Amino acid sequence: MPAHSTKGFHHITMVSNDAPRTLAFYRDLLGVPLVKQTVNFDDPGAYHLYFGDNEGEPGTILTFFEWPNARRGAWGVGGIHHLALGVDTPEGQLMWKRRLQDAGVPVSGPYDRGYFRSIYFRDPDGQVLEIATQGPGYAIDEPAHALGQRLIQPDARRLPDGRDEASIQGLIHLEPVPEVTPEMRLQGIHHITGITDDLERAGAFYEEALGLRLVKKTLNQDDPTSKHYFWANYDGQKVGSHSALTLFGWPGSNQRARPGAGQTHHIAFRVPSRADQAEWREHLLAMGVEVSPVMDRKYFESIYFNAPDGLLLEIATDGPGFAIDEDAAELGSRLQLPAWMEARRKEIQESLQPLEVGAGSDA
Ligand SMILES: [Fe+2]
Ligand SMILES: [Fe+2]
Repeated sequence: MPAHSTKGFHHITMVSNDAPRTLAFYRDLLGVPLVKQTVNFDDPGAYHLYFGDNEGEPGTILTFFEWPNARRGAWGVGGIHHLALGVDTPEGQLMWKRRLQDAGVPVSGPYDRGYFRSIYFRDPDGQVLEIATQGPGYAIDEPAHALGQRLIQPDARRLPDGRDEASIQGLIHLEPVPEVTPEMRLQGIHHITGITDDLERAGAFYEEALGLRLVKKTLNQDDPTSKHYFWANYDGQKVGSHSALTLFGWPGSNQRARPGAGQTHHIAFRVPSRADQAEWREHLLAMGVEVSPVMDRKYFESIYFNAPDGLLLEIATDGPGFAIDEDAAELGSRLQLPAWMEARRKEIQESLQPLEVGAGSDA
């Protein structure tokens, strides 16, 4: 493995116009626990909500800045197209389709993507979400020890002209799904898919800067005129969970991503310790990458930099974690502020709309 090789994602940060609405969608409908309510440390008038598995483990963390007046963002080069969350089985996925549609959320799929099966929908701000099955995995069309070595033409039955949309749309769980069952449990970040204008340049960057490795070169199965490459933590045998960054290639495109609501603000990769992060920062500087100073985010420490296509990236430490300022059993139950903002708690709290945390869990 290269010396500077991330295990995978730490978190993804998206933009919401309305924190209570985001809470209702992610916690109550998708069943992802709220693990921290705090404010944006760079803009304390705005909520920063963190969702994740019960402990808020890196790789499962989804965070939102609440910017009530942000206009709707749009996809493009240097931005994220969608976030995929993992689910164990195709049956669990069909239960998600039923639960979401019954809640008035349109769902497309399940599409056979070869490496996994996918359904798609949007959150209330328009962020495109996918729920992807864990299997069958990247070794279905090339050996597990030699992933990403040649351009793979997807099976024609997986492409728009070859697939039977009517029967795909007809696939659904037959009974209503009022509760999120154990087999439906969302397992954190399965992959994150962005858009770049130069796949080769992006790949060289992610490989050198983060130690990710190319694990699949194929075509965008919804638009087979464009390429779709996958990078991940890969040791030549196994692709690490919560580590797949995939990019659609739009060569020469000047359609830039427009930041805003329903768009991803940045994505963060993980590093074990502060010492590793300091070394990593030197590594990026030696590559000629402009990197921020280390920022104290209370639950982790962060450095920020940009990919060559403009995407904002972060490297965050695994610790100290979300139990640093509240009991592990009560994560997310109360507004938490960093020590340097405590003196202004009343003023900050009054500027935020109530979240009504703890109110019911029915969708
Ligand atoms: Fe995807
Ligand atoms: Fe972040």
